[in-house]
Amino acid sequence: MSLLVTGGAGFIGSHTCVELLNSGEEIVVMDNFFNSTPKALDGIRQITGRNFKFYEADMLDKSAVDKIFSENNIEQVIHFAGYKCVPESVKKPFLYYSNNIRGTLNILESMEKYGCRKFVFSSSATVYGIPDAVPVREDFPLSAINPYGSTKLIIENLCREMQRADNTLTMILLRYFNPVGAHSSGLIGEAPTGTPNNLMPIVIEKALGKRDRLAVAGNDYPTPDGSCIRDYIHVTDLAKGHVAAVKKARELKGGCPAYNLGTGRGYSVFEILDTFERVNNIDLGYVVGERREGDAPEIYSDPSFAEKELGWKAQLGIEDMCKDAWNFAKKSI
Ligand code: UFG
Repeated sequence: MSLLVTGGAGFIGSHTCVELLNSGEEIVVMDNFFNSTPKALDGIRQITGRNFKFYEADMLDKSAVDKIFSENNIEQVIHFAGYKCVPESVKKPFLYYSNNIRGTLNILESMEKYGCRKFVFSSSATVYGIPDAVPVREDFPLSAINPYGSTKLIIENLCREMQRADNTLTMILLRYFNPVGAHSSGLIGEAPTGTPNNLMPIVIEKALGKRDRLAVAGNDYPTPDGSCIRDYIHVTDLAKGHVAAVKKARELKGGCPAYNLGTGRGYSVFEILDTFERVNNIDLGYVVGERREGDAPEIYSDPSFAEKELGWKAQLGIEDMCKDAWNFAKKSI
């Protein structure tokens, strides 16, 4: 019996593969290298000393997805594959709906055909829209504020409705907050193939001298230092949350629970930049710029439900996140 990891060469996918292999799981990985490279697969093998089956396949290719199920005894699917760039989704909504929704339907269809009944979905805190209060709990109202968020919400709704129609299905929804950092070995990390738009990859580009300007997106928010607050989580902690979810899915005889994967602690943009400079001994030379459209002043999780139900809790802090992100970046130039 194996776990199928879609998008397993990506940032969160590759770290999850490491933790799954380290905990003794058998995995089959699928990726089309749209926003990842084969180097990540070498990194996973090197870190764990274990091998696994890999399929270079696109989830839009129905017969390629089916082939993976026909050649392996897949017990559970952990579904990471999908486009994830918010501004691009605003410009190209059809592309996002088409890829993320169609691809997921193909996976779910093959699961049904081959009798695979356990699904772990890579959702996002984006499904809370702009929350009215913090910390955010799983029972807060859900909404989408951009096409990327819509695709996450539609897939969550589909999972809930499929599970309601067949209560023997187990669908676990993992809502990530802000994943950053890299594996402590520096062998895998975040390696976006296009222009980055998230804070840490932009910080890394500035530190490497690959970009001229790094700006704090607004310092006039109603927060203690005026910059936005987010719940940054080390990608290794996040990956361990998936191992816990896989175990939980194995125990459950059905259900569609959602879990926040965050630390429960918010940090401002200034705190992240200052910590990065201090622990890595780098002057980022950042400036204060304009607000970014659509940013909520403050979002952080209440992770207590995940702790109670999954027995999982984030262990690493922002110093580790900043050190490990830079360690990976230096090794990959
Ligand atoms: N920021 C800057 N300067 C930059 C880039 C970002 O100050 O150059 C700030 C943003 O304004 C924000 C914070 O850094 O306050 C974090 O921004 P990110 O783009 O890294 O992350 P977001 O919180 O905007 O979005 C992330 C994921 C989304 C997900 C969302 C869920 O990228 O996929 O969390 O809350 F939907």
